[in-house]
Amino acid sequence: MTQHMQMTGRPVISSTGLFTPEESITNEELVASFNEYVRRYNEKNADAIASGEMQPLTESSVEFIEKASGIKARHVMAKEPVLDPNVMAPRWPQRSNDELSILAEIGVKAARDALERAGRKPEDVDAVLCAASNMERPYPAMAIEIQQALGIDGFGFDMNVACSSATFGIQTAADYIRAGNAKSVLVVSPEITSGHLNWRDRDSHFIFGDVATAVLVEDAAIAPEEHWDILGTKLKTVFSNNIRNNFGFLNRAYPEDAGGPDKLFVQEGRKVFKEVVPMVAQMIVDEAERIDIDPTSLRRLWLHQANTGMNRLIAHRVLGHEANEDESPTVLDTYGNTSSAGSIIAFHLHSEDLQEGDTGLICSFGAGYSAGTVFVRKAG
Ligand code: COA
Repeated sequence: MTQHMQMTGRPVISSTGLFTPEESITNEELVASFNEYVRRYNEKNADAIASGEMQPLTESSVEFIEKASGIKARHVMAKEPVLDPNVMAPRWPQRSNDELSILAEIGVKAARDALERAGRKPEDVDAVLCAASNMERPYPAMAIEIQQALGIDGFGFDMNVACSSATFGIQTAADYIRAGNAKSVLVVSPEITSGHLNWRDRDSHFIFGDVATAVLVEDAAIAPEEHWDILGTKLKTVFSNNIRNNFGFLNRAYPEDAGGPDKLFVQEGRKVFKEVVPMVAQMIVDEAERIDIDPTSLRRLWLHQANTGMNRLIAHRVLGHEANEDESPTVLDTYGNTSSAGSIIAFHLHSEDLQEGDTGLICSFGAGYSAGTVFVRKAG
């Protein structure tokens, strides 16, 4: 149908999709499980702790979590094993190679939602980018499995830029449109963060949640009447060890340490907070200026969902005043930090009420460090 249509080379967001796991863990449930683990650990090691050989573990607190992060609950693919003090990790039956992988499964659900909202058939899509923090395996690419499950003819590949994977995916997709190499690209971000989170680490056990999002980036020529023009995209990376995960195939080279805590998510939260906030705020203001937008006139910011304090400071710097929920919506209170999917969930759930001509910003930031901005304007 779209085969002979003249393309514009102008990328737009035609639609977004969301898959939210049914199960959710409140801070109260999480802290009760963590504190039971602490109690058992300290009891088991009572003698060594009494003699000073070992340090006791310290309890977590609901008040701290809410105050320090803004998170009240998070969705997970499997609640029971995460809360079991003897397990504290996700558990489900291993799937055979003939079955759809779990990461692909939730990616497909979000992608179908996006396709449906745009009235788009899979055969009209040219490419699938699986842009997420944690792939289920190195190969074959998750994107190709998602492509196959949806029945898309074309190509797909995985890209991992941690929390900024989705915005990096959107710019990549937009560049395909700009160059005329594709007219319709799905950017899928399945984030099963419960797999890389150390549920036994007091500093970070409350941070993450599971989810999947999808963004359909298309040439304006084929977009549905109601869509979002992409006004500009900008990416930035600066190397930092302050958010790090050493899991990888070369762990086999030093098997004695293969299960160490550094093979899961580890961060220096304070440093991340202090270094990323000014970097991102400046990046947004600079990019707005470059594309001739007054940052204080932005109707809404859909910011990365890691920490309400970070978002408050960034939004204040950009808008020139304290932002309210309407200007900078929060989803991390019920979703936790969903890595690359966070700003897309915020956009998905809080964009329908905007009017034609309203300008907003999707912005991500996180490990790498990595940050991405996508300025959009409602059309149609
Ligand atoms: N329960 C109770 N107290 C806790 C706790 C817990 N679960 N975890 C840490 N604390 C305590 C610490 O022991 C420390 O106590 P002290 O002052 O007596 O030493 C105190 O709380 C402050 O710890 P700190 O790690 O500095 O907390 P914070 O205020 O920086 O908040 C984060 C921690 C992770 C919420 C916060 O740094 C953050 O969100 N950073 C942004 C980075 C981010 O989320 N990145 C994810 C990828 S983008």
